[in-house]
Amino acid sequence: MIPSYFEFYNPVKILAGTNALENIPYELMHLQAKKPFVITDKGIQRVGLIKHIKSAFGETDIAFSLFDNVPQDSSDIVVNELAEIYRETKSDSLIALGGGSVIDTAKAVNILVTHNSETIFDFVGGDIIKTPLKPLIVVPTTSGTGSEATGVAVIRDSNRNIKMGFSSQHLIPDVAILDPRMTLTLPPFMTAATGMDALTHAIESSYCLQKNPISSAFAFSAIQILSKHLLQIIKKPKDSKGRFALSTAAFLAGVGLSNSLAGMVHALGHATGGVCGVPHGVAMNIFLPHGLKYNLEKVSDIIGNLLLPLAGPKHYSSIPKADLPTATIEFIKSLQESLNNLVSLPQTLKEAKVSSSKFETIAQDAINDGAIAFNPEEVDYEDALEVLHQAYD
Ligand SMILES: [Fe+2]
Repeated sequence: MIPSYFEFYNPVKILAGTNALENIPYELMHLQAKKPFVITDKGIQRVGLIKHIKSAFGETDIAFSLFDNVPQDSSDIVVNELAEIYRETKSDSLIALGGGSVIDTAKAVNILVTHNSETIFDFVGGDIIKTPLKPLIVVPTTSGTGSEATGVAVIRDSNRNIKMGFSSQHLIPDVAILDPRMTLTLPPFMTAATGMDALTHAIESSYCLQKNPISSAFAFSAIQILSKHLLQIIKKPKDSKGRFALSTAAFLAGVGLSNSLAGMVHALGHATGGVCGVPHGVAMNIFLPHGLKYNLEKVSDIIGNLLLPLAGPKHYSSIPKADLPTATIEFIKSLQESLNNLVSLPQTLKEAKVSSSKFETIAQDAINDGAIAFNPEEVDYEDALEVLHQAYD
């Protein structure tokens, strides 16, 4: 059903394909930038991906600064440190080379350096940022977060140990570079976890309250590609075409998410990540079927129709209409089983070593998370607690 009013926005320029990175100098020129600050992490440096950026700058007169130590779970401390380096090096733009933590860190640094501020938490929440930020080019090295497509960043508050969300159309990157060379070295476990994050973006954006026909089209396409390629790429990690397909799907899912927003799976995942350090993709994998089940009554038709992009027309048409919603959940569970068999991706909170003694804190944080407001079915503290118990084993 078409809503009576909706908005859709995605201004990201996409450069996609083999050697797409070589166009970075050209894009910087268009953005009137000459001194980029490249932000990445130790893992990316270790596997040698930074050399592609260096060779892209080759003979140009671009002198970039580099920070290669963003931790997996970045915080306000890291953001402050990087903003200081940006100022000291007189940089004029940002390039984020990495996964979600690196990209979100670059976005947060961009807020501070543009506003000449020292306190990132002054900008927490939606639409606090009112003016355009410095140029930001994003080169994702995972196929999951979709942060290259979104106006959202999540940063940990190091004092309170909770994840804080920032959202603004000004946080959407100027350019996203999807170069298959950047994800070829992503380990199978990470490929699985980030792939399930992308799938969760597509699925939640299909049925959450701000969905619209355009964001749903992006989500449909993302689900189709992810379902076809995720298991295959874990079995054949060096398949460049498969890697490229996953990167494209993660971007598509990110666009869907950015416009439709996420729901309770993300709210619970953010809370579990903040309290117990469970990686985001692992949490998404655990909570996804529970989120579907919880929303089954409110959006059963949409959940049933997800079986089409997930399983293809042959399987979809073989299932009686009334059974489609549960068949979708079963399909997700069977995908999880396969991923668990291949790379031991946890399916339960117990497997992810989350103690049930933390459930009350997680439930409280989850219902305070911004994503909970967009879930079709209302979720209160007791509901969140119940889902946590269901997801335990
Ligand atoms: Fe996510």
